[in-house]
Amino acid sequence: MAVLMVVRETAPGERRVAATPESVGRLTALGLDVTVETGAGAHAHHDDDAYREAGATIVGADAVAEADLVARVAPPSLEEVARLAEGTVLLSFIAPHRNLEVVAELARRRVTTLAMELVPRISRAQPIDALSSQANIAGYRSVIVAAYALDKYFPLFMTAAGTIRPATIVVLGAGVAGLQAVATAKRLGAIVYVSDIREAAREEVASLGGEFIDVPDAEDATGEGGYAKEVGEDFLTRQRRALSERLAKAHAVITTAQIPGRPAPELVTAEMVEELQPGAVVIDLAAADGGNCALTDPAGEVEHGGVRIIPGQDFPAQMPGEASAVYGRNIANFAGLLVTDGALAVDREDAVVAGALLTHDGEVTHDRTAETLAGGDR
Ligand code: NAI
Repeated sequence: MAVLMVVRETAPGERRVAATPESVGRLTALGLDVTVETGAGAHAHHDDDAYREAGATIVGADAVAEADLVARVAPPSLEEVARLAEGTVLLSFIAPHRNLEVVAELARRRVTTLAMELVPRISRAQPIDALSSQANIAGYRSVIVAAYALDKYFPLFMTAAGTIRPATIVVLGAGVAGLQAVATAKRLGAIVYVSDIREAAREEVASLGGEFIDVPDAEDATGEGGYAKEVGEDFLTRQRRALSERLAKAHAVITTAQIPGRPAPELVTAEMVEELQPGAVVIDLAAADGGNCALTDPAGEVEHGGVRIIPGQDFPAQMPGEASAVYGRNIANFAGLLVTDGALAVDREDAVVAGALLTHDGEVTHDRTAETLAGGDR
């Protein structure tokens, strides 16, 4: 019977856990022997006893060397990689483009790494798609944080003392997080404007009651797997011009634009921040990849001319209960592709496994990461 261990997260601010008691039930149903590091679920409100009752064995950190499968949320540190036995199968976010040394070490230690952010966007993989499950949370929370940071109502109010105008929100990037932000802001009664570079986003935004911001001479930048392609500086200049007018009237700007494996596009320059009204907020969900706003600091909030710029890369970790519940299901569904009657087999012919495979048998198996490592471009 293969052993799957759920480790306690150690990254600063990481409050999620890779399995909840509910998902432990799903893992044991696959025939897996599940071990959980003591305290792993504490931030997500699951104590050791709850995991024991779900069928897991509580273990210390050292037990990771005996696990066949290791499930975690945040990328491991180099020290954590050093504790994994050769041949371990690791299921985790890795952010390979930001963690090249860790990737090289995973390969050197002959760990089989299945990176959650590399799971392909095919229908069969949707129950495993942790980028989406977490982006949904980030998008929701971005609006709640904006509403809290603003000293203004979101909805229109008609009162005996006069009318209060609704807040104007601009959302940049209408992927999973952006669309959830639009839906949440609309539910609170705001007026919402949205920019994206994929033509398909236009209809999705309209269906949620948002208004799409047109960029003159825009070309559809839909790339591989429905993701966006990187666009040129010329397009970004025209886009910034189209945005300026909306931004000047915005109370909150929520930025979510990302290009997988590349720095986030800079959509809001320092000058554009200066055009925002005093008291406005910018919530940057792309902060971990350099941010969509030139002034974003992933380490914390920045104030510039009365505008607050708040980094949002930790939002899913700030809702650890639900973020872990959906992530745990993503992990259990992935384990279901790897385990039959308790026996572990990594089938490289399976499109989901092949897409997510980052390291295997001493090699970096993800082309773009391997090329970056070979080029020494760290
Ligand atoms: P993401 O997190 O990679 O990026 C967020 C959004 O930013 C995307 O909509 C992208 O087009 C946009 N963006 C990039 N550069 C921009 C720029 N310069 N200006 C404005 N917007 C810019 O995207 P996410 O949330 O991962 O979704 C990307 C696509 O994948 C969407 O079409 C989504 O519906 C699709 N998807 C498909 C799934 C499946 O088939 N299994 C699962 C989840 C998402």
